[in-house]
Amino acid sequence: MAASQFLAHPPNLPKSLKYPSHSLPLQPSFFFKPHSKTLKLRAVLSEKPVAVAAAANKFHHCFTKSDDDGFLRCEGVKVQDVIDSVDKRPFYLYSKPQITRNFDAYHEALIGLRSIIGYAIKANNNLKILEHLRQLGCGAVLVSGNELRLALRAGFDPTKCIFNGNGKLLEDLVLAAKEGVFVNVDSEFDLENIVAAARIAAKKVNLLLRINPDVDPQVHPYVATGNKNSKFGIRNEKLQWFLDEVKAHPDELKLVGAHCHLGSTITKVDIFKDAAVLMVNYIDQIRDQGFEIEYLNIGGGLGIDYYHAGAVLPTPMDLINTVRELVLSRGLTLIIEPGRSLIANTCCFVNRVTGVKTNGTKNFVVIDGSMAELIHG
Ligand SMILES: Cc1ncc(COP(=O)(O)O)c(C=O)c1O
Repeated sequence: MAASQFLAHPPNLPKSLKYPSHSLPLQPSFFFKPHSKTLKLRAVLSEKPVAVAAAANKFHHCFTKSDDDGFLRCEGVKVQDVIDSVDKRPFYLYSKPQITRNFDAYHEALIGLRSIIGYAIKANNNLKILEHLRQLGCGAVLVSGNELRLALRAGFDPTKCIFNGNGKLLEDLVLAAKEGVFVNVDSEFDLENIVAAARIAAKKVNLLLRINPDVDPQVHPYVATGNKNSKFGIRNEKLQWFLDEVKAHPDELKLVGAHCHLGSTITKVDIFKDAAVLMVNYIDQIRDQGFEIEYLNIGGGLGIDYYHAGAVLPTPMDLINTVRELVLSRGLTLIIEPGRSLIANTCCFVNRVTGVKTNGTKNFVVIDGSMAELIHG
């Protein structure tokens, strides 16, 4: 396979020390994104390498570990060969074909619907990845002015971009208005800023109302964002107030859709249907007041295989099938905002072993990558 099918992303580090090859273990150590299990995996690697190798074989993605020679491969290419061909280490290794396959899974699931797939850039903002997704036809979901600038630099069509967030800054809203990206309304003060931005930019803003549907996504509370106590979205009992405000600003605002994002790591797709039922009811109410609502945005959140334990997870097709009929019944364009499920299984963080030390009871395999490169929350 040509090297161009990989996206190597070296962290900004000086080249690591060169060791004579015979002093290094044959294989790289490796960690898969997402990173929440990293420390555990490190410890396990030092104690039970066989168990980890067995678990690694269960990964259903572009990385495989062969029982024959023990080498880790990405799309059939030895990661060791990639290591030998790059001059900066450690590095992130991405599979471009896997990114394409992940995108295609959504694209195929959406056949028969008008849709926008907006990649949630916060999941991984590597410019090469953004450019690749943009070339595939993806839009972008943004939560800061810098993400908006990055998306524009990567060439995304602004009319396939959605600017989210509960603390959007006026200057960033002005840019969003000028570029013609969709803007999600999150609160009363947010709406005030959007009106001001529209005036400064002298452009009408296409709005989606982020309604909090109060649906429990049954995930960790830190990644549950569509229930009543969430800091995101408008309270549904305030809906009429927002509609009246939009009506009062016909030169600045055009309400074109409704948005919700329930949370992340969702593994029960029925939850998306529960939310969609509520959302189309809101859309019916909004349309009854004369608004031309074209878009239903159901956010992101499809779960991924965090634990590599062979769990059977819902696919994009499973997700879309739960909302398909509803969307068709109202003649809506569906917007989805996948992050993790587009990118998480496409990447590994490739490290080399710098040495082995012991504290007397435990051995530690020390590697050239650290928390400096493996950022996590
Ligand atoms: C508004 C919004 N959309 C989409 C996403 C992407 O979610 P996920 O990575 O779970 O698909 C997030 C993540 O936090 C988000 O806040």
